[in-house]
Amino acid sequence: MYRLQSKIDTKSKEFNNNREENLRLQDELRERLSTVRKGGPPKSMERHIKRGKMPVRKRLEILFDRNTPFLELSAFAAYDMYNNEAPCAGMVTGIGVVHGREVLVVANDATVKGGTYFPITIKKHVRAQQVAMENRLPCIYLVDSGGIFLPLQEGTFPDKDHFGKIFYNQARLSALGIPQIAVVLGSCTAGGAYVPAMSDESVIVRKQGTIFIGGPPLVKAATGEEVTDEELGGADVHCRISGVSDHYAQNDEHAIEITRNIVEALERPSKFPLEITEPEEPRYDPEELYGIIPTSVRKPYDIREVIARIFDGSRFQEFKELYAPTVVCGFARIMGYPVGIIGNNGVLFSESALKASHFIELCTMRRIPIIFLQNITGFIVGKQYEHGGIARDGAKMVHAVACADVPKLTVIVGGSFGAGNYAMCGRAYGARLLWMWPNSRICVMGGEQAADVLAMVKVRQLEKQGKKLTKKEIEEIRKPIIDEYEAQSTPYYSTAHIWDDGIIEPTETRTALALGISMSLNADIPETKYGIFRM
Ligand code: COA
Repeated sequence: MYRLQSKIDTKSKEFNNNREENLRLQDELRERLSTVRKGGPPKSMERHIKRGKMPVRKRLEILFDRNTPFLELSAFAAYDMYNNEAPCAGMVTGIGVVHGREVLVVANDATVKGGTYFPITIKKHVRAQQVAMENRLPCIYLVDSGGIFLPLQEGTFPDKDHFGKIFYNQARLSALGIPQIAVVLGSCTAGGAYVPAMSDESVIVRKQGTIFIGGPPLVKAATGEEVTDEELGGADVHCRISGVSDHYAQNDEHAIEITRNIVEALERPSKFPLEITEPEEPRYDPEELYGIIPTSVRKPYDIREVIARIFDGSRFQEFKELYAPTVVCGFARIMGYPVGIIGNNGVLFSESALKASHFIELCTMRRIPIIFLQNITGFIVGKQYEHGGIARDGAKMVHAVACADVPKLTVIVGGSFGAGNYAMCGRAYGARLLWMWPNSRICVMGGEQAADVLAMVKVRQLEKQGKKLTKKEIEEIRKPIIDEYEAQSTPYYSTAHIWDDGIIEPTETRTALALGISMSLNADIPETKYGIFRM
């Protein structure tokens, strides 16, 4: 494969300006990450440790094999929500390695409101289970939770993807042969009791873990019976009397050791056999990405400069290089894994959509994972293009992306607007994992455009009534829309709502993508079946 030749001048003023801004964004990301990773308030942490319990991240550290990577999901869930009282949404999820095997973990953080589930906590838990299902990863639940965050029951209990979905998923995952292991390290109340009860195997810590459908206060109120936590649902009850739990642990460390042994004893299915080569570092320094990414998503830049700094040897086998240049397609390798790449170099025209659809067919026929590098304002608009059938050709690409049954991974490296988001494998299109860069923006359209559209609708309405708006009145309609769009299109807003799997630093992208592909190979890559492509 040929190597890409970078055209970037690393000594230019523009490079330096970009670099300065992108490093500022990186610092901001690191600082915010270190804040949310602290978990609940210091008082809660002190109390937690005094009780002989380990902080949630320490538990994970000893669960995973030493010196193996942990791919955390949605660390910023609930960021700037719920008065900032739910850092990480009170839960850590992600993919780690236990006895050489990739596993999915869901771990409650009891220092955040007793580990209770806010609406976004449930979304985070359910999303993690979806990752486990699509990639066939055994699930380990480190449970330490008071169940639903009761003041917000409306967003947590009755609907399809609310609390009940967690246990539904456990049953379905178990039925698929995906192991479900619960480790009860604290409270496990009400609905939460079903996490261990629905697991294939469960571990509980003596004088610390409890499992009950109704806690002592509820029992007292309902039946008048007086009972302690331990008598009602402690480790001795569940390991010796009820049989709800299978393994009796002395403390956190012991419980995690037992859990590692459970994983060690699991059957180890072989991974999908992708043809893998020796990994090769990119020829161009990934650090240079900071000088390449423009300070505004409106400014275009050549996606090949990104590809050259992420993929093995900066080598790229480009497909249809001279045709439809606003979409860049080609084959490359990342840490030895073969991948197809689709990246944006401008708006999508009919021919760009056809080229990308053709390329997706190549990848699915050859069973090669696809990486989408999104920097897209949308499909081209205008009479000429509508007459040319842009809607029909765009639909072909959206169809191909939707049906492609190879692992898909998406990184939003710039803007993600309108239907371009769909065609480039946005959240609804089944990317196994989707990340944002700190400079990125995601929105149905730019704030200015949305403001213009809405102002124009209003002007037309009033014209029909014979009224006219002044310039000032039009500006009064536009301003709040622009402000709202601006605030809601940031990567922090997106990731807080779990519209993605996290914000990553550009220089972390290579590792994240390689881990994502490695994880995805736990599942088979089936034959892709397409439906009708509108011709
Ligand atoms: N909903 C909302 N907030 C809850 C909560 C719930 N279900 N359970 C606990 N909290 C809050 C507490 O109000 C407290 O908030 P604060 O720090 O702002 O004061 C915080 O979580 C910690 O609770 P606390 O009781 O002080 O901690 P603890 O470690 O001693 O006990 C629990 C934690 C979860 C075991 C205990 O609070 C409990 O039993 N809660 C009720 C659980 C329940 O019945 N849930 C049913 C839901 S399906």
